[in-house]
Amino acid sequence: MLRKLGTSITFLGATFAARKTRTEKMSLLITNIKQLVLTEENPRQKPLRGKELGVLPFLENAFLLVENQRITGFGPMADCPERGDKKLDVTGRFVLPAWCDSHTHLVFARSREEEWVNRIKGMSYEEIAARGGGILNSANRLQEMEEDLLFEKALERLDEVKKSGTGLIEIKSGYGLTVESELKMLRVIRRLKAVSEVEIKATFLGAHSVPMAYRNGNRQAYIDLIIKEMLPQIAAEGLADYVDVFCEKLAFSVAEMEEVLLAAAKFGLRPKVHVNQFNCMGGIEAAVRHGAVSVDHLEVVDEADIAVLKSSETIATLLPSAPFFLQDHVPPARRLIENDVALALASDFNPGTSPSGKMPFVVSLACIMMKMLPEEAIQAATLNGAFALESANEYGSIAKGKFANLIITKPIPSLAYLPYAFGSDNLEQVILKGKTL
Ligand code: NIG
Ligand code: FE
Repeated sequence: MLRKLGTSITFLGATFAARKTRTEKMSLLITNIKQLVLTEENPRQKPLRGKELGVLPFLENAFLLVENQRITGFGPMADCPERGDKKLDVTGRFVLPAWCDSHTHLVFARSREEEWVNRIKGMSYEEIAARGGGILNSANRLQEMEEDLLFEKALERLDEVKKSGTGLIEIKSGYGLTVESELKMLRVIRRLKAVSEVEIKATFLGAHSVPMAYRNGNRQAYIDLIIKEMLPQIAAEGLADYVDVFCEKLAFSVAEMEEVLLAAAKFGLRPKVHVNQFNCMGGIEAAVRHGAVSVDHLEVVDEADIAVLKSSETIATLLPSAPFFLQDHVPPARRLIENDVALALASDFNPGTSPSGKMPFVVSLACIMMKMLPEEAIQAATLNGAFALESANEYGSIAKGKFANLIITKPIPSLAYLPYAFGSDNLEQVILKGKTL
């Protein structure tokens, strides 16, 4: 049965691969755009900070030209060229860059709604985790599942987030927690990279939770397994772009995180880490010292954390769906913006704390819960997300030379309507690398 399934999935993979390699040679001229959002004449080299985040450049009544998958021109309709094999009139619609979701765990075996029901009844996320639920529950399921089926399930989720406008995404391992299963997860991510129009970055998160067998005085043996066995194999196969550690009381200490980050640095992996989800432990300062591209969650931060971030290049990535789902914190977006910290938004799509990867909802939550302005939230979920994946040279804004990763809205009254009308489906079309989905 499983073997049969494997064959059909391989076939499915081959079909997708063929679809992907067919490059879009056609040119596309989009006309009568009500508002072309996040245009850049000279693409930024650094993420937006402080007041910059609220200044959203746009063009009214505009055109956009796409050739060979990339944006090759845009401007006011008065200057619209007579070009394009295909023409698309989008009167009344807004055009935005596709979302750049810089933090997800979308490879997992199955959902965990029974834990969620236990939380409704009063148990906390930490209590469930301490009893072997949570991440360890997901790890048990994933260890049992064949790679082909895991791939198929992840591909379904990726297709779903693609439809909601995500064009660049980060996907983590971290539900394997054995050498074999961490490699299995990362190989699934590599297969997703090969077949999907969505651009993918892979992050190795072996240090997501300490497996039960290592919890009684034996934690160092698990860290050693990560450093001596997992990292060298992952590096040899080129399976990861970044390294992550869940630095938290119920997971790994700051010292343990530093040990993993030092080892990963030898293989050229830069950190993007989970810190300050429940407790301030000094993880932000340590991660910044190790050259972290981003520090993610930041649901609780103290003055020392802010001071460190303010004078660093590290991006603070907020994941509002997780504290919304757990109903435990309101991440301090306004404080971070007021202190000129570079801020990105991501979905944290995972079965435990954020069972949705829909970026339009994340943008709405950012405005509703954290009081970000629509302009700030949109830029944090696109251009700053691209910076949080070191990919802003190709993604995250409407600029000549960048990939034509575009969202076309339905006819809507204003840009603010997009996050305001949370939960409603306001996207009409998604174009990735010049190709309409
Ligand atoms: O980002 N906090 C750590 N990791 C995930 C949750 C993992 C899980 O519960 O499965 C997060 O929230
Ligand atoms: Fe996460």
